[in-house]
Amino acid sequence: MDDAGMDGRHSIGDDSAVVSGDDAIDPPESFRDRAVASDAGVYETFEREGPEAWRRAADLLDWERPYETVLDDDDPPFYEWFPEGRLNAAANCVDRHLDHRRNQLAIRWFGKRGERRSYTYLDLHREMNALAAGLRDLGVGEDDVVTLYLPMIPELPIAMLACARIGAPHNVVFAGLSAEALATRIDAADSEYLITCDGYYRREDAFNQKSKADNARLRIDGDLRQTVVVDRLGDALDVSLGDDEHAYESVVDAHDGETVEPVARDATDLLFVMYTSGTTGQPKGVEHATGGYLSQVAWTTRNVLDVRPDDTYWCAADIGWITGHSYGVYGPLALGTTTVLYEGSPDYPDRDRVWDLIERNAVSVFYTSPTAIRSFMKWGSEYPDAHDLSSIRLLGTVGESITPKAWRWYREHVGGDDVPVVDTWWQTETGAIALATLPGISPMKPGTVGPPLPGIDARVVDEDGDPVDPGEPGYLTIAAPWPGMLRGLREGDERYRREYWLEGDDGWRYRTGDGATVDEDGYITILGRVDDVINVRAHRFNTAELESAIVETDGVTEAAVVGDNDGQIVAYVTTRSGVDTDDPLREAISERLARSVGDVARPDRIVFTPELPKTRSGKIMRRLLEDIARGEEFGDVSALRNPEVVGEIESTVRET
Ligand code: WTA
Repeated sequence: MDDAGMDGRHSIGDDSAVVSGDDAIDPPESFRDRAVASDAGVYETFEREGPEAWRRAADLLDWERPYETVLDDDDPPFYEWFPEGRLNAAANCVDRHLDHRRNQLAIRWFGKRGERRSYTYLDLHREMNALAAGLRDLGVGEDDVVTLYLPMIPELPIAMLACARIGAPHNVVFAGLSAEALATRIDAADSEYLITCDGYYRREDAFNQKSKADNARLRIDGDLRQTVVVDRLGDALDVSLGDDEHAYESVVDAHDGETVEPVARDATDLLFVMYTSGTTGQPKGVEHATGGYLSQVAWTTRNVLDVRPDDTYWCAADIGWITGHSYGVYGPLALGTTTVLYEGSPDYPDRDRVWDLIERNAVSVFYTSPTAIRSFMKWGSEYPDAHDLSSIRLLGTVGESITPKAWRWYREHVGGDDVPVVDTWWQTETGAIALATLPGISPMKPGTVGPPLPGIDARVVDEDGDPVDPGEPGYLTIAAPWPGMLRGLREGDERYRREYWLEGDDGWRYRTGDGATVDEDGYITILGRVDDVINVRAHRFNTAELESAIVETDGVTEAAVVGDNDGQIVAYVTTRSGVDTDDPLREAISERLARSVGDVARPDRIVFTPELPKTRSGKIMRRLLEDIARGEEFGDVSALRNPEVVGEIESTVRET
């Protein structure tokens, strides 16, 4: 077994992951007749026009100053989209809708305790402006990075927009991450301002978020000048505020009715930074530019998710990750639609919560992850079947491969078997959807993402960069820049180039880090990551990030972390001799992960083993461990340094 790949990491020499799609399913006629994208000529148009074709995306936005150049590719891989253009993202998401739909709902929020709040575009305008004025008052200037550490409450998108309005890039940190993780991200982003909250509900319990923020503050090297604290819990939790800490309500009240002129930003100026896991244990700060990002996000929300202003649209992803940024906030608001924002969990108070919300709000477009769909399936079709879901006209999925079985279940029980299901592939770095069927045009193949979108030059290639034959595994790469692409990394140009780009004879290629196959029709099936990133429970982790936390636990010597078929985290752990491999140790490991990374990183299974399987060169065979966790066949292991441990691990896994 050889694990040296194109970039010195794993190769993808087996086809164990996902079987390529069954028979193609045509878009339903009723949908096709009304679809935004209904002209199959769009593929050819983009091909013919090249980057110029992306004007269509930029034209969905209002520009303060028009751009002249679409793409400046003089200095690859540092591409600039719409470079002379100037615009403000918040003005595009809110102000420009006031003429026609000021009283239309922008956000319908549902809290964990059954609370509701609704914001019209006018309401959103008012609160965003008040907060923008307040932030300025606290000293936030253009290009100052503001860290947002908030759960799924309206104040989160409002704070993002307020930041965008004054040209302050936001740095949203998922609320479930730990104090340590928050501190790392505040420092790495050079952020001196924080917006957080007192706490939030987890099931029945009030959970203290502010104490995590306080804890982070003690750890950072830099200086947090000002903190704004949203009162989410009211009387359920009292937190005291220090000198440079301010209640969100008082900041907003003090500036109520003020308007702040939106700051015109260069298209290439930073809109936000989002930390994500890469090929090392340290997360990397992905930077998105204002113009290109917003253009492609708006274009794909319209053309792939088919969202229009009169929809009630629900993207169930947490805003703390890229899906929530692009398709929970910027995309739908740029198009002036009504979006649902849900704080709770899908099975509380009961397992029909999602279907109940869809029915009550007549949600027409619903976008979620295979992880969620797997849970829905497990809970049973009686839950969706008991609700009238006829308002739904399109379903989307993102984040990992969906099995044909789950795809069909989703379409049948949620979509009434007569709606398109779009499987969308993209990444934090791509900013926006890059592979997907166009729902009114392309046939769907369950289990297969689909072809690249028009204008996306995605290819599945071998180690030399040559296209692979249909059905053969290869590396998913993108051979030409696209507007939503990251403009760089917070860690600098060198890291950006090294992490993502390869220069070949025919130009620069972006490496996605995913393995894939392509069929005769050009439909791409994703096989999973070929680097050390794992996608579990709709979160993205680097294995080293988790493993280094685990080995900090007393008694632990080595660890390897993989994801299983249910999107769960499985940790293989070795200990010093004489250490009891029992539940208290499991608990200690779990606590350690919660402390270093966050509760989201607690492992679902911990498998103690005397040794980890290694190659002769001493590299841990994570793929083999993944196959074992998934109960899948694996190849010959005789070339390992310690083949005898494999059988032992397998039987332990079967018992747990
Ligand atoms: C995976 C999430 C299969 C892939 C938007 C990618 C997918 C990583 C799909 C990015 C899909 C995303 N089918 N795999 N439809 N969509 N992925 O940055 O491995 O959190 O590289 O962005 O998720 O995860 P990220």
